[in-house]
Amino acid sequence: MKTSDALVLFGATGDLAYKKIFPALHSMVRHGQLDVPVIGVARSGWDVERLKKRARRSIEEHGGGVEAQAFDKLASLLGYIDGDYRERDTFQRLRKSLGNSQRPLHYLAIPPSMFPTVVEHLGDAGCADAARVVVEKPFGRDLASAVSLNKTLHKIFDEDDIFRIDHYIGKEPVQNLMYFRFANSFLEPIWNRNYVASIQITMAEKFGVEGRGKFYEETGAVRDVVQNHLLQVAAHLAMEPPIGEGGEAIRDEKVKVFRAMRPMLGHTLVRGQFSGYRDEEGVAADSQVETYAAMRLHLDSWRWQGVPIFIRAGKRLAVTATEVLVTLRRPPHNIFDEPLPDQANYFRFRLGPKQVAIAAGARTKEPGEKMKGRETELFVCSEGADEMDAYERLIGDAMEGDPTLFARQDGVEAAWRIVEPILNRKSPVEVYKPGSWGPEAAEKLTAEFGGWHNPKRAQSRCG
Ligand code: BG6
Repeated sequence: MKTSDALVLFGATGDLAYKKIFPALHSMVRHGQLDVPVIGVARSGWDVERLKKRARRSIEEHGGGVEAQAFDKLASLLGYIDGDYRERDTFQRLRKSLGNSQRPLHYLAIPPSMFPTVVEHLGDAGCADAARVVVEKPFGRDLASAVSLNKTLHKIFDEDDIFRIDHYIGKEPVQNLMYFRFANSFLEPIWNRNYVASIQITMAEKFGVEGRGKFYEETGAVRDVVQNHLLQVAAHLAMEPPIGEGGEAIRDEKVKVFRAMRPMLGHTLVRGQFSGYRDEEGVAADSQVETYAAMRLHLDSWRWQGVPIFIRAGKRLAVTATEVLVTLRRPPHNIFDEPLPDQANYFRFRLGPKQVAIAAGARTKEPGEKMKGRETELFVCSEGADEMDAYERLIGDAMEGDPTLFARQDGVEAAWRIVEPILNRKSPVEVYKPGSWGPEAAEKLTAEFGGWHNPKRAQSRCG
């Protein structure tokens, strides 16, 4: 279980390194969690000075600002190898610069099509001995390619040394879902089909594809965020309490949720595309790729039989917010004159960005003579000023060799099995207006359960 003694970052000049990884490394240094060489690898014709400049800009823009001492330290750890991933020489130079490192961690922040080439070269050049590897999602683009990617990785790395990043699992509020469920006793008696009417997960993004048109054309919303991030959120909500200690017990329970989910049916899926998507660079003029997907999922399990799980995700929607709503059934008999609304009792979990909240919705009596009610919410939240970023947590865990918060291959495959029937659908997408809540057809999905719950802008009463 030795801690990794070097971090090699493939794709060091790329988008992910810029937006997420350098800020995470800077934070790790600030928290005293990183003190090993960090070797960037890319084919950009750069040198280490240019990489340092880029790292600084990335931390300024996405890491909340540079802390001089931490940045100097990070810069002193940084190295850079410029080279083609297809050439042996690149990896021989990497081997040299790894020096006496016994257990490097290779982070593949590169297009998945390059994984096999890089992994094989790492093996040939002796860079993979006792090494760990982090692979970024997407893990394949369907079940068959996920299986084949796994074979490629296993040629060189043992399962214990493979870390499949789905950064949603590393998010504080997603961890909090599991904590809240299993650290409180009041939830368990009602957390099942007898009391829960439906579950909704909404991941809304106000922004569009932001220059990633080419990537998005090959991906679409289902592959980009549903098969991984949102099914993981569903698993945290639906899993049984883990039996026994350690990360594998948790991963076992999540995989069981995926196994219990029925493969998706086409008629419970709505695909949308925001108007203007086809004008993005890299997007086909007649693209039918979905930038929005809404669906109804079923879990065949003792606990959840008959409780629909609705998931929707979309770009260029009204707000940026990820929120879960677990709605409870109505009281069995209404003794008041006024009808009780559908979604009166619920638990609401705000998973970000920035604001994290847990709320419970209840009816309370309006003051006065009449037995008339109103909606009330018990609301706890934190702005997460010092919230540990998912990437910081996950890189740290991978360096320690702790797989708990990483996707496991059987889970990845089970999740592909759920969405497989709806991948590559040829049916036309429904175009929706930017800034709206997506295609109208999606409204029907949840109509008999009180409709979609639209997350609002973050509330200001936090803190
Ligand atoms: C990424 C997707 O995995 O997650 C993006 O590729 C999406 O399309 C992003 O915007 C959302 O992550 P977060 O942490 O900003 O909610």
